[in-house]
Amino acid sequence: MDAGAQPAALSQAPAPPPEDAPVVVEVRDLSTVFGEGKDAFTVHKDLNLTVRKGEILSLVGGSGTGKTVLLRHILGLTQPTSGTVTVLGRPASELTTDGATTRVGMLFQHGALFSAFNVIDNIGFALQEQGTLPKDVIHDAALVKLQMAGLKPEVATRMPADLSGGMIKRVALARALIMDPPLLLLDEPTAGLDPNGSDEFCELLKELHATLGLTVIMVTHDLDSLFALSTTVAVLADKHVIVTGTPAEVVRFDHPFIHHFFLGDRGRRAMAALPPEFAGSPVKES
Ligand SMILES: Nc1ncnc2c1ncn2[C@@H]1O[C@H](COP(=O)(O)OP(=O)(O)O)[C@@H](O)[C@H]1O
Ligand SMILES: [Mg+2]
Repeated sequence: MDAGAQPAALSQAPAPPPEDAPVVVEVRDLSTVFGEGKDAFTVHKDLNLTVRKGEILSLVGGSGTGKTVLLRHILGLTQPTSGTVTVLGRPASELTTDGATTRVGMLFQHGALFSAFNVIDNIGFALQEQGTLPKDVIHDAALVKLQMAGLKPEVATRMPADLSGGMIKRVALARALIMDPPLLLLDEPTAGLDPNGSDEFCELLKELHATLGLTVIMVTHDLDSLFALSTTVAVLADKHVIVTGTPAEVVRFDHPFIHHFFLGDRGRRAMAALPPEFAGSPVKES
């Protein structure tokens, strides 16, 4: 295919890593049950997911399907009821005892900055917690990450309450990257941003993915960023991952959630800009 003829959105999406790239995250036969007895509530059942080095995997699914809980399992913050979660060859549960932030960076939903700390102290927080480096070294390391996230040094002393939504996301991203983790988890990173802010954030992520060689797992509802960024899409429905593949493969998968998600008005708009392999989905116009 003539690459020059591709619409901007897809030609910019990073190429997927080779199929034999090392496995970074392996989720096997995972189940998650909250509550007990008659209050028991199953969120995940027989869920499997493999993420390889260099992937940007978008995790999509309806509200309340357990996307955030799955990220928390991968981060080792919560334990599944059964099954295994392996991150960089070790059980995710060891991450918490071993300093999760050194190997996995997490951008929480809504940014979640510490409101009592200024920007630079938010970014340097994990290093500060480690307590092994002098304050000025931590400050400089945080300043590097601040600029890496596309912010000016002047922002360093601002408080979170004085930042725009887009800046909060960037500070949260800088904080997630402070320990140079090889794996980055993002929970709805573009939610609440206007289209411009969202595009800018996607550009930044793409750049960091390429320069830092990151593996990224991103929960998103934002189809524009999904198509602009994803090497892989995994769909969470019916309590497990029903399909994993390239965006073009996943769009064709026949399941009610996929029809709803990709072929609603938003989906059609996002896909209108994409090349022909996205046409021919099993769903008809309703
Ligand atoms: N610690 C918890 N205790 C009980 N229920 C929880 C807990 N965490 C999440 N849930 C429930 O699990 C389901 C999945 O939550 P979540 O992963 O946040 O969904 P989403 O896919 O929207 O991110 C929801 O019904 C939520 O209420
Ligand atoms: Mg969530």
